[in-house]
Amino acid sequence: MKTSLVIVLSIAFSFHFYESNAASRMFLEATQDPQEDLSETWCNKTSDIDHCINSNQADPRSDLKESRIGLTIIITEVAKSNASETLTKIDKLISTEKDRAILSMLYSCDQKYQNAFGDLDSALHFLNETKLNVQNLDRKHYEAINQELAAAAGEVNYCQSFYRGPRPSPLADENGKFLEINDVALQLLNLIECDKFEPCRDS
Ligand SMILES: *[C@@H]1O[C@H](CO)[C@@H](O)[C@H](O)[C@H]1NC(C)=O
Ligand SMILES: *[C@@H]1O[C@H](CO)[C@@H](O)[C@H](O)[C@H]1NC(C)=O
Ligand SMILES: *[C@@H]1O[C@H](CO)[C@@H](O)[C@H](O)[C@H]1NC(C)=O
Repeated sequence: MKTSLVIVLSIAFSFHFYESNAASRMFLEATQDPQEDLSETWCNKTSDIDHCINSNQADPRSDLKESRIGLTIIITEVAKSNASETLTKIDKLISTEKDRAILSMLYSCDQKYQNAFGDLDSALHFLNETKLNVQNLDRKHYEAINQELAAAAGEVNYCQSFYRGPRPSPLADENGKFLEINDVALQLLNLIECDKFEPCRDS
């Protein structure tokens, strides 16, 4: 009798305690809103947690936030629009640059970013297909999406390595930011397929 009273009291006390605890309030909200919970849980496992969570929360499409593939679609679209922003910036730089070595680098990077944009579009095509038809990511789709995202990173890495100048590349910042967000898309994909951040290997 006494024991159960103690249990009742401690449960009541725990509830009271947890109610005033910020972390638990977050937990309660997350349970009420599974969409937020998903992005916080999965973005938390990536290399750019804030950017990942903010991008997902800023996206109005609630249907995409219900699945990890949906989250990966949102991040891949962010990377794609980032490539597009950088293309606009490159065009602007080309119109004013006088240094021929830098101009040549800019033209080359313009091509690389166009390729990256195309790679991300293909990745999105496969991601869409996965979301609509396959439900669970199958190995074939994993490989295809992984390949496109890695190819996009390769293009931008090439743009970065192409420049050897006395001052830093005028695209160093853009390249870094693109690679960061593109990596998050790759990591989310790996987490879905093999529950780890690194590329999945055939067993
Ligand atoms: C995020 O990760 C940290 C450390 O790995 C963990 O303690 C925390 O509970 C995680 N948060 C969420 C929302 O998953
Ligand atoms: C996209 O690129 C621009 C520069 O091109 C950068 O300032 C911005 O932070 C990037 N956005 C994201 C979401 O990475
Ligand atoms: C993916 O699907 C969305 C609609 O769900 C569509 O707007 C978008 O164009 C598609 N993207 C590709 C590359 O197929």
